[in-house]
Amino acid sequence: MIDEVVFVKEPPKNCSIVLGVYADGSLSPSAQKIDKNLDGIISKNLNKLNFIGKTFKTSSFLDSGDSYNHIILMGLGDPHKEFSKFELKKLGAAIYAVTRKLDSAVTVAIDAADLHFPCNCASSFMGFGALLKSWVFDKYKTSKDEEAKLKNLAMLTLDVKISEDYYGELRKIADGIFLTRQVVSEPANVIYPESLAEIAKMELLPLGVEVEILDESQMKNLGMNALLAVAQGSEHKPRLAILRWTGASNSESPIAVVGKGVTFDSGGISLKPGEKMHEMRYDMAGSGTVLGLLKAIALNKLRVNVVGVMALVENMPSGSAQRPGDVVKSMSGQTIEVLNTDAEGRMVLADALWYTQDRFNPEILIDLATLTGAIVVALGHEFAGLFSNYDQLADQLSKSAAVTGEKVWRMPMSEHFDKGIDSAIADVQNIAKSHIHGGSITAAQFLKRFINGKKWAHLDIAGVETSSEDLFICSEGATGFGVHLLYDFLRENYTTVP
Ligand code: BES
Ligand code: MN
Ligand code: ZN
Repeated sequence: MIDEVVFVKEPPKNCSIVLGVYADGSLSPSAQKIDKNLDGIISKNLNKLNFIGKTFKTSSFLDSGDSYNHIILMGLGDPHKEFSKFELKKLGAAIYAVTRKLDSAVTVAIDAADLHFPCNCASSFMGFGALLKSWVFDKYKTSKDEEAKLKNLAMLTLDVKISEDYYGELRKIADGIFLTRQVVSEPANVIYPESLAEIAKMELLPLGVEVEILDESQMKNLGMNALLAVAQGSEHKPRLAILRWTGASNSESPIAVVGKGVTFDSGGISLKPGEKMHEMRYDMAGSGTVLGLLKAIALNKLRVNVVGVMALVENMPSGSAQRPGDVVKSMSGQTIEVLNTDAEGRMVLADALWYTQDRFNPEILIDLATLTGAIVVALGHEFAGLFSNYDQLADQLSKSAAVTGEKVWRMPMSEHFDKGIDSAIADVQNIAKSHIHGGSITAAQFLKRFINGKKWAHLDIAGVETSSEDLFICSEGATGFGVHLLYDFLRENYTTVP
């Protein structure tokens, strides 16, 4: 993993260097300068190589004589194209992917002017992308990947101070993302409600975040019987972790972020098929994102009041497990008929959402949950499903998603789906009648019954919290989706100026 990204005006000695080439075959302005100093060795090579600078395509390594260890050409596409922040992040990640095996220091000689980016912080976003890409979860491998040698990356910039300032904030967001990736990656014999709550304390208390952990008896007293019903089959006792960051004045009502934290979802008595059951160790990703988000916020001392709630349970079948057909009374007073114990996330969230509104009276309520397989069918692994009862909130989230590249797609909500979850013997049932399709909307409509007049958004992240392929900004595994998105959302819309 990259230890450090430094920002420089001139490439240091004895490094390998990355240069930009546009799709018309021309060198970027920064590359031209370096080419001139090398007596045109690069442009000559370029002709021989027949290298076309398609976006993110790279050359094989060139030898430049004594000046640099290696020269790597990176395609920048259309010479007039203005890069976005997200594309800069991807560019940095692509650069890391081709240079990770180099043991010499690497300098990226592509600056804001080469990319028509209006701020000299372009290199900060590239450095951020490289850093995100370099993270690996290898603690359980006794023989490590020896190939990832690159530790230090230097980025050429026209303004070192500006680049460092921007990178300073991004580096801390990355620390939040890495915490999310780490807890999501850990197996369920390591991460269970109690241990994840402990990690939250250990990570966040030193940063000035108040951490309060509710145990089973406290939740019982509060009447959180829907959450507890899911937990009751497991040896691991449930926890509710409440993370409070007060970055603005005490009187300001907070933004609340609630995460589904099912540390393992076997399905319960409605047991899942075996084939992919192991993937359900990721079913706490919503809570993992809340944790990483709070870390990013606290590290950057964001001027906003945020309450993070991690609803932590394990869903297991056993003699004490809830049964299909059980009826429980949620904290809201509404009764739920449990027709499928595998539709557990919505039961956990029903109580966590109600509790959060009841206690904190938040300005905005957002939940993140690996809630439905159906959202993966609908949106694949590219978009999270966004459901909301408030258009402005949905728009703000969509905007941040476009900036950070953690994409969302707004899904409809409709009373039509309410009929599908009206229970014959209780107020609501936890799955729809069999002829009703649109499982993700049904789940969102279920959650809506536990929204008590608040502006609310629900992100179904079942398709995006991990990836089975090498993505642009991360390798296979946990992505940390949502941390940067919600950080940007809070920073842009809710921070107060001092
Ligand atoms: N955690 C799962 C959803 C899930 C599925 C996440 C695949 C990631 C990948 C959730 O608890 C669940 O089991 N949902 C059921 C709901 C159904 C029983 C109505 C589903 O989607 O099949
Ligand atoms: Mn389930
Ligand atoms: Zn689940």
